[in-house]
Amino acid sequence: RSLKIGMLPADGIGREVLPAARAAILALGSSIPKPEFIDLAAGFEHFTRTGTALPDETVSVLQQECDCAMFGAVSSPSRKVTGYSSPIVALRKKMDLYANIRPVTSVSLHQLSDCNSTAPISMPQVAADPTAKPDVDLVVIRENTECLYVKQENQVNTEHGKEARATRLITERASRRIGEMAFKTALARPRKHVTIIHKSNVLSITDGLFRETVRAVPSLPGVNGKYDEVAIAEQLVDSAVYRLFREPNIYDVMVAPNLYGDILSDAAAALVGSLGLVPSINAGDSFVMGEPVHGSAPDIAGQDIANPLAAIRSAALMLRHLGYGDGANRIEKAVDAVIREGKVLTPDLGGKSKTSEVTNEVIKRI
Ligand code: NAI
Ligand code: MG
Repeated sequence: RSLKIGMLPADGIGREVLPAARAAILALGSSIPKPEFIDLAAGFEHFTRTGTALPDETVSVLQQECDCAMFGAVSSPSRKVTGYSSPIVALRKKMDLYANIRPVTSVSLHQLSDCNSTAPISMPQVAADPTAKPDVDLVVIRENTECLYVKQENQVNTEHGKEARATRLITERASRRIGEMAFKTALARPRKHVTIIHKSNVLSITDGLFRETVRAVPSLPGVNGKYDEVAIAEQLVDSAVYRLFREPNIYDVMVAPNLYGDILSDAAAALVGSLGLVPSINAGDSFVMGEPVHGSAPDIAGQDIANPLAAIRSAALMLRHLGYGDGANRIEKAVDAVIREGKVLTPDLGGKSKTSEVTNEVIKRI
């Protein structure tokens, strides 16, 4: 049996970091089924050449042939471009990848867990970053299919000028399954704690439905006390960001509607040093797609200086989700070792090395 992995580098540094993820998976050798990579088209650049950002062919190959996939990043313009819509947003919906799971962990915690010691450890430059917090160990679980990202927007002209509206969709079904994912994730973690993020003091109907539905997960029929050990807290999204920056260690699993989750996970990434370190998976009941949290970084694209570690870690998360935990651990240990040594790092972490050099360093350790 082989493991068929759809590869969608898309745009910008997506094309530089996805080869690193591929190399890391290959380095595992025979400890996973033989990987078979299938290159697939998607992205803004593809749109400008062909008029489509997500070819039907890409979706059908993913659905019919692939076991999983890796996505790089897409350069979505901020202005409206006729005929264009983001392929990653569309893919999450088409493949029903309803949960975006983003673990954010301080480098120093990786170090401690790795060597099982409480002795002080000399920090690489990333941890010397005055904004980097030493004690972040949380997972943002972001609903991936609805909220404002249903993209039902319109604009009309009125006598007072233009007026624009967007629809925000929250359903019980989507809130329940993301809630179940949050409780399941918390149960597997040492602290077993879920914080529901919402703004139902203002949006009492939409966020109210999200909050109540997630809260009700432990008492759903069939759960039978499975989540009794999991503590539930809740926090309004604005003060959640405030507390995230002041006392990030209060959070274990944060579960949020799509837009809040998007913002929170980038904010959490800032606490650990760089967007270039934070991985994610998009998970559904029958498919999983790894994806670094960062975008296509046009400011550094094409220079071979993008940090490949977020993409490599995303590959590890994808493998763990598929049941290849040993392979995932080997990749993660190798990444942690490279960060701990602090000798071969890209410029976002204060280093001077190239994407390819960091990748080779990780491969050597795998
Ligand atoms: P971005 O994540 O691309 O970049 C933000 C900053 O972080 C930049 O200074 C960039 O150089 C740096 N950075 C990001 N990843 C890095 C890495 N691996 N190594 C080193 N530095 C890294 O976000 P931005 O600038 O807001 O968006 C740029 C483009 O990316 C936009 O077109 C946006 O639509 C797209 N984007 C795509 C996403 C996706 O494909 N899922 C997610 C976020 C943004
Ligand atoms: Mg984002």
